[in-house]
Amino acid sequence: MSNKHTILVTGGAGFIGSHLVRLLVQKYPDYHIVNLDALTYAGNLANLTDIEEAPNYSFERGDITQQAFMQDLFRKYDFDGVIHLAAESHVDRSITNPLEFVETNVLGTVNLLNVAKEAWKGQPEGKRFYHVSTDEVYGSLGEEGFFTEETPYDPRSPYSASKASSDHFVRAYFHTYQLPVVISNCSNNYGPYQFPEKLIPLMINNIRENRPLPVYGDGKYTRDWLWVKDHAAAIDLIYHQGQTGETYNIGGNNEWKNIDLVHKLCDILDELLGRPTGASRQLITFVRDRPGHDRRYAIDASKIRDELGWEPSIQFEEGFRQTAQWYLDNAGWLQGVLSGAYREYYAKQYS
Ligand code: NAD
Ligand code: DAU
Repeated sequence: MSNKHTILVTGGAGFIGSHLVRLLVQKYPDYHIVNLDALTYAGNLANLTDIEEAPNYSFERGDITQQAFMQDLFRKYDFDGVIHLAAESHVDRSITNPLEFVETNVLGTVNLLNVAKEAWKGQPEGKRFYHVSTDEVYGSLGEEGFFTEETPYDPRSPYSASKASSDHFVRAYFHTYQLPVVISNCSNNYGPYQFPEKLIPLMINNIRENRPLPVYGDGKYTRDWLWVKDHAAAIDLIYHQGQTGETYNIGGNNEWKNIDLVHKLCDILDELLGRPTGASRQLITFVRDRPGHDRRYAIDASKIRDELGWEPSIQFEEGFRQTAQWYLDNAGWLQGVLSGAYREYYAKQYS
């Protein structure tokens, strides 16, 4: 057993998790960062090839719902903290298969809480259980207003209901067992390594391949977009400086109606791909709406700004251009994901 500060990051092979793991491994050479991931369709170790040999990094493949496995893991590493991101994360999939979301997001989180509670029994000082959640738990906004940390929960999709449930359990473990928890609820992330089922990488890929751009409903649904590395920086700050038992909203202060965002993507990619201006907009196709589609999300992030000094580092225009360029420069990564070849990586690397 080492004296190093050891953090368990769950879901570290996913989109946000991989950015967080990279940040922690590079910023804290004296820490030991353990990435636990089941490598579902959304988990991709190719997201982390640049740091996989770092001496302060370990990867463990496993499932947060498995009690004995998680107990062994806590015994093996004697974690000081947990940053919990592992989840089923795509709303459309939750509409098709809600139970999978209950299993991972609810049962998996409660299992993790139980295992941490047992492992830290009697000595919770200096420990931290950080639960990473979403703004979707607050429901849907009209034209006006913002979600604050006091907004009542009103989840409306199986995904957001499962995340809301997990948030409630995390708070219950704070109040009932004094588990030292902290929670954040973040808006939509964008950036490199996002699975191309989500709006932005899906649109970039379809524009690249000259395929139809499926916009749900009237396209006037609104999301507040945050650069993924800004989310990772906020998580780092909250893990180290957030108040135990508190919740922090994280957002980009950067609202876009979907159709405006898709137009913007088309224009940037026309420029980057050397197409005539307006060419990619011709690909836009309005399709059947998502059932129960939340109209608008927008975050009031003044608490984390005022208490911890966090603000988004870049605005959408710049972040979006960087994202589009990244997907064009990393067509191999995209192809690997789309063809399923990325799943062979683990077999090759860890056989
Ligand atoms: P993702 O789908 O890209 O990654 C999820 C990761 O969890 C994958 O690597 C997957 O293999 C792993 N995983 C799934 N089930 C598991 C299990 N049973 N055991 C262990 N690992 C498992 O998700 P993401 O977009 O990176 O989101 C990460 C977290 O942040 C989620 O909790 C999500 O609810 C939350 N969040 C996401 C966003 C967003 O815009 N993407 C915004 C706010 C909050
Ligand atoms: O708000 C945070 C949440 O953001 C996270 O908790 C989720 O994990 C993450 O998936 C994301 O949820 P959304 O449902 O907002 O993201 P998605 O990329 O699926 O869709 C963004 C918007 O674009 C939404 O209004 C639906 C619309 N859309 C999406 C797809 C995939 C389309 O119009 N066409 C599409 O093909």
